[in-house]
Amino acid sequence: MSLAMAAPAVPAPDRGLNRAGSLTDHMVAVLRRGGADMGQLGVPDRRTDRSEDDVWDKIAVPKARARRLAWERSIEDAAHNEYLPFRLLTGPVKLDANQKPKTLQNWLDSLIEAQESGARPETLNMIIAGNIGTGKTAAACALGNEAVLAGLDTLFVKHATYLTWRRPDSAPHNMKAWEVRKKFATCKLLILDELCGEMDMTATEFTRRETTDLIDARISAGRPTAYTTNLRSRRTKEHPGLGVVDILGERLLSRLEASAHLAKITGTDRRKPTKPLDW
Ligand SMILES: Nc1ncnc2c1ncn2[C@@H]1O[C@H](COP(=O)(O)OP(=O)(O)OP(=O)(O)O)[C@@H](O)[C@H]1O
Ligand SMILES: [Mg+2]
Repeated sequence: MSLAMAAPAVPAPDRGLNRAGSLTDHMVAVLRRGGADMGQLGVPDRRTDRSEDDVWDKIAVPKARARRLAWERSIEDAAHNEYLPFRLLTGPVKLDANQKPKTLQNWLDSLIEAQESGARPETLNMIIAGNIGTGKTAAACALGNEAVLAGLDTLFVKHATYLTWRRPDSAPHNMKAWEVRKKFATCKLLILDELCGEMDMTATEFTRRETTDLIDARISAGRPTAYTTNLRSRRTKEHPGLGVVDILGERLLSRLEASAHLAKITGTDRRKPTKPLDW
């Protein structure tokens, strides 16, 4: 049975003014008959007639599979397969309390709610900050793993890798530089790992331009991003080392922080051997 046959016709409303941006029942029915992905339009599937479930599943199941494969591929490209089993609050491999799983879960819930209602998420960015080896990437991947299961198209990339792939003929899977930009600027949720990692004050014009372009594009379009970093935002007397502001500049950092939650991860370096090696 085709979608064109299945969706019931809804009479067109009387002529007159509709609320700007609103989807009338009539428009929804027209789009549904045309096989449009209502999830993309922010219209939840509220049909009561479950006899169409098999038709709906034919669309929803491959979409969920494609979403999971795209996410897993982005994790594989980063050689991070070990992070795929991580979950936020439940499961055999879950985060510790100091990795702020509740903060991450609440933010994810707000993103799902926004996607379902077609609204812009209230808080666009999540900054997962902490010292080296405290479990930031694991926390960010747990968030991504849950997001994909909940129906959000999510991708993972390290900041430095993104910059490398933006150079001509440098991306995997025969991707062109413009495709790299499109992919990471437009996915529903992006995990940008190690923001400004391994960079110094001499960050090139290319780095600044590309990073500003990606972050600005995502913020302007209302697309959420989770960042991990072991840098502080700005230098202080107690922490005189490089801050993110030194690489991104005050304007971009302020824009990012203007709509952000912070999940600060405390604890020790999980990778450090309890006894230092003697060599
Ligand atoms: N909740 C957890 N339970 C068990 N192992 C964990 C947990 N969180 C992280 N790990 C492990 O601890 C190690 C360090 O974690 P992770 O790579 O996430 O740290 P990081 O803060 O991203 O480090 P870096 O600063 O080097 O990027 C990894 O081997 C990871 O698998
Ligand atoms: Mg990491």
